Amino acid sequence: MTRLTDAHGRQIRDLRISITDRCNFRCLYCLPETEEAANFYKRTSSGAPRPIQHEWKPRSHFLTYEEITRVVRVASGLGISKIRLTGGEPLLRRDVPRLVESIAALPGIEDLALTTNGFLFAKYAQALRDAGLRRVTFSLDSLETGNFKKMTGRDGLEELLGAIDLAQKLGMNPVKVNAVVIRGLNDHEVPAMAGFARKHGLVMRFIEFMPLDSGRAWQADHVVTGREILTQLREAFELEPLNDEHAAATAKRWRFREGAGEVGLIMPVSEPFCGQCNRIRMTSDGHVRTCLFSLQEHNLKKQMRDGAGDADLAKWLQAVVLHKEAGHRIGQAQFQQPDRTMSGIGG
Ligand code: GTP
Ligand code: 5AD
Ligand code: SF4
Repeated sequence: MTRLTDAHGRQIRDLRISITDRCNFRCLYCLPETEEAANFYKRTSSGAPRPIQHEWKPRSHFLTYEEITRVVRVASGLGISKIRLTGGEPLLRRDVPRLVESIAALPGIEDLALTTNGFLFAKYAQALRDAGLRRVTFSLDSLETGNFKKMTGRDGLEELLGAIDLAQKLGMNPVKVNAVVIRGLNDHEVPAMAGFARKHGLVMRFIEFMPLDSGRAWQADHVVTGREILTQLREAFELEPLNDEHAAATAKRWRFREGAGEVGLIMPVSEPFCGQCNRIRMTSDGHVRTCLFSLQEHNLKKQMRDGAGDADLAKWLQAVVLHKEAGHRIGQAQFQQPDRTMSGIGG
């Protein structure tokens, strides 16, 4: 087998697939379209926001589940062993368990996970589990009802807490929880969220805010650095470092000296991990992105719909991966935010 290797010698093992760009939340760091989000950015950003005009594409633009499964099958023949389904909100798409089942059945796929905002999770949890989903990552940016609404645009805290509990009851393991930390919004909640993880045996990860918001209103001083978060955590808990999960892991990890669960820091802004990156992405309309911050995409849907065979697709993927960027340029003068927001790329 010829493995997918980029021009910098990185072996690509992880394919993150967005199955829809639609979302039922309006997170302030992703789709800041609520009045509260507008007020936050008005108060804290210099210069007027330059919103990205995102048009919701009709469903026919989406790859079908058969097409997605085909891509995964071809990619697994090239060494991809890890698949993450994301969105937008992936559970807005119909019959996700059917897709999970067909991907889980493919030889070579060792790890299949889902990233969701959790709002609709309860409805599909058992079916997802039965279809072969073994682990899930939720977004939880606040444990305070009002602040949750401010951060996500939706009154959904209770649903989310229920979803996390249900995932654990169904034996999904690990259950990971992501919080994007934004200065002045939820940074005061860091110790409480870590305490929540310790109480419930969750893997809680705090993420630095990246410039992928539809308002293009990100500013460096919105970012609470991992170092600051760690200081807060150390004041509240005794922590012991854990080894990285694997070489390309995004998170630095600690466990609590007492209690279950762990905390992680994902620091793409202050400590980029691009050098070890083994990920590529595919958008819901079938474009391959070799980096979260790629400015150029590669139209895989066109290849497939124009009749390429599996061997052609494999060759095409190998050529595409050679374009993988060395890393992102957040914080540098040449940085340019991609046209797609996180909801269109997939977290
Ligand atoms: P597992 O730990 O294997 O479950 O996956 P993961 O560490 O990739 O975690 P997850 O999928 O939950 O991603 C967590 C967050 O890390 C994402 O929402 C992004 O904010 C960030 N992230 C993931 N991949 C990349 C990447 O390639 N580049 C950058 N800059 N950030 C990333
Ligand atoms: N910066 C960092 N992480 C983000 N996510 C979404 N937008 C951003 C951003 N601008 C992450 C959140 C969410 C996942 C889907 O993507 O963790 O849980
Ligand atoms: Fe929030 Fe994810 Fe929806 Fe973006 S795609 S608004 S991060 S739930």
